[in-house]
Amino acid sequence: MQAFTKAQTLDLFAPPDWFPESHPPMPEVVARGRRPTVQACAFCHLPTGIGRPENAAVAGLPAEYIAQQVRDFASGARRSAWTGAYKPTDLMVALAKEVSEAELADAAAYFSRLPIKRRAEIVEVERVPETRLGFVYVVIDGAGDEPLGQRIIEVAQDHHRHELRDPQVPYRAYVPKGSVARGQALVSTGGDGLTLPCGSCHGPELRGLGLIPPIAGRSPTYLLRQLLAFRTGARATPAGVPMQAVVAKLQLADMIAIAAYVGTLEP
Ligand code: HEC
Ligand code: HEC
Repeated sequence: MQAFTKAQTLDLFAPPDWFPESHPPMPEVVARGRRPTVQACAFCHLPTGIGRPENAAVAGLPAEYIAQQVRDFASGARRSAWTGAYKPTDLMVALAKEVSEAELADAAAYFSRLPIKRRAEIVEVERVPETRLGFVYVVIDGAGDEPLGQRIIEVAQDHHRHELRDPQVPYRAYVPKGSVARGQALVSTGGDGLTLPCGSCHGPELRGLGLIPPIAGRSPTYLLRQLLAFRTGARATPAGVPMQAVVAKLQLADMIAIAAYVGTLEP
């Protein structure tokens, strides 16, 4: 068992590594980054690359895909779906501009070899516990409940462990009733031309194919942010052009359904 001070859990250049035996030795850029701008990848994406809902799981993505996405953040081709300032992505963009190709190669090789794990259980509900905005994510505040409406609310099952950057804390994503079944239909058939079946590009189990990334079992709010980003043009990466046709006709409720269903799959 490791012990860290509160300040150490917030150190962008030496983030806490609670379970050092759970992953191979980290390259320098992952464990410590490089001052002043290249913050340690492990601070946000965690030492196992499993990520958190407000950033991204990078474990198990193809190395060349990882490197290209970072270059796309640097060039401005990939931005956050959030139109205002969104701190985590702003920091990701800033470091992408400063990271060297050698550091990027080390990080990409490291993360691509780690296993992806599903961390969020998906729960269909009409009402959700009331939440308030924490630093960049929502926190249940115990005040009562409210209608979910057309939203996905993804929360850590233990907010305190999330704050401590515990890579094993489970999450729960509340999604509207009927989402999973509707998402499954859209994903597998394309819903009569509303979208395209995802398996033709992402692989039959949505576990990735060549340089096309795996999506099965990833954080549903991450998935939804990406669908929205493709749809609004915030993510206009050269390699992402095939995604334009996928999202062009989707409404928010469709994207929520797709993200909910894909989030239930085993990675
Ligand atoms: C300050 C937090 C932070 C740090 C440090 C950070 N990232 Fe990120 N990263 C993010 C966020 C936030 C996103 C997701 C943006 C979004 O939602 O569109 C992201 C997304 C990514 C993605 C896209 C994943 C995908 O599936 O497309 C890759 C690849 C990536 N980061 C690699 C890195 C590497 C390599 C490093 C270290 C050199 C790093 N990141 C450091 C915050 C960070
Ligand atoms: C015609 C091929 C094609 C189809 C069909 C397709 N995708 Fe994609 N998708 C891609 C490519 C290529 C990328 C990588 C884009 C990039 O490199 O920026 C991608 C990326 C994504 C991402 C971002 C993943 C990440 O790690 O950030 C998500 C989410 C996604 N697709 C969801 C879907 C869903 C859901 C469907 C079905 C409804 C679907 N895709 C159908 C080609 C496709």
